[in-house]
Amino acid sequence: MKRLISALILSALVVCCAACGKADRQNIISGAENSDIKTYEAGDFAKIGKFDFEKKTVMLNSGYEMPIMGLGTYSLSDEECYNSVTALLRSGGRLIDTAYMYGNEAAVGRAVRNSDVPREEIFVITKIYPGEQFENPEKAIQDALDKLDIGYIDMMLLHHPGENDVKAYLAMEKFVKKGKIHSLGLSNFYIEELKEFLPQVNITPALVQNEIHPYYQENDVIPYIQNLGIVVQGWYPFGGRGHTSQLLGDSVISSIAKAHGVTCAQVILRWNLQKGVVVIPGSSNPDHIKENLDLFGFELTDAEIRQINALDRNEKHDWY
Ligand SMILES: NC(=O)c1ccc[n+]([C@@H]2O[C@H](COP(=O)([O-])OP(=O)(O)OC[C@H]3O[C@@H](n4cnc5c(N)ncnc54)[C@H](OP(=O)(O)O)[C@@H]3O)[C@@H](O)[C@H]2O)c1
Repeated sequence: MKRLISALILSALVVCCAACGKADRQNIISGAENSDIKTYEAGDFAKIGKFDFEKKTVMLNSGYEMPIMGLGTYSLSDEECYNSVTALLRSGGRLIDTAYMYGNEAAVGRAVRNSDVPREEIFVITKIYPGEQFENPEKAIQDALDKLDIGYIDMMLLHHPGENDVKAYLAMEKFVKKGKIHSLGLSNFYIEELKEFLPQVNITPALVQNEIHPYYQENDVIPYIQNLGIVVQGWYPFGGRGHTSQLLGDSVISSIAKAHGVTCAQVILRWNLQKGVVVIPGSSNPDHIKENLDLFGFELTDAEIRQINALDRNEKHDWY
């Protein structure tokens, strides 16, 4: 009950400050122990969740800015992952998504440390997994910090709902207060899961990462999450391995791509961005990685967005 009241007060504060624009410097994390914790500047509340297409970033409810396009590393081996993250950083990309389950956090960390890009310009997301990690969350979080070895984690997600998920999230909150994690989020949480979960935690998640592509669009879930001041990020933007040729060869998407002189991959990613969904396409090909960042020289019309929206088949490509 106490947490529900805190969550309601925080939501009311966000809404009030956004409405009247009176947000003086304010720390949203009550009882924060670390003076370096990000605080809001006046006017920032109104920006939460809005994509800045000039800066290519979005302001999170944690007070941090996150790039709106980056690289997913699912199924990349250590070497592939190191090379892909290096290619991303060389091509100007700054957002990387990894997870304990991908077994490549150490490779992400090495690539970040070995790059010439200042650490504070890079945004690394990792995730902890249900089971043993949720049972011993402090150890799981410390393991991620140790494997990445990049000082702090920009964002940590619960990979799935599951037993002990609230316990695991409350442990992540403690690391936020220590300044070792900047922002928190969830993955594979839909409306029912969020309704149950949110009243039980203190820090509203900054992001929810779910499966989203033209054949599985989540058109009811996305606005529900966004209206909570939470940013949505899509996984499997091209349908995931085994499905990409179908999506990248779709005749509607191909004709839109042809009209703009871009690739189908770019159309799909741009469609996500125009719907306010952050993209993390997976790739081990430096040319694809570069192409997937080049999304700002064209804009889809409302009619084109509607054409792609009409491709929805509610066709999930993975079980979670
Ligand atoms: N939270 C979760 O439960 C969850 C689940 C799944 C995935 N994820 C995250 O979401 C990310 C994206 O998903 P994913 O990587 O599995 O699938 P995806 O992004 O839908 O597809 C990746 C495939 O697309 C190909 N590809 C990438 N860019 C391309 C381009 N420009 N042209 C043609 N082909 C292209 C890649 O091949 P090349 O290597 O040849 O480029 C790869 O085979 C993951 O990497 C992971 O970080 C999260």
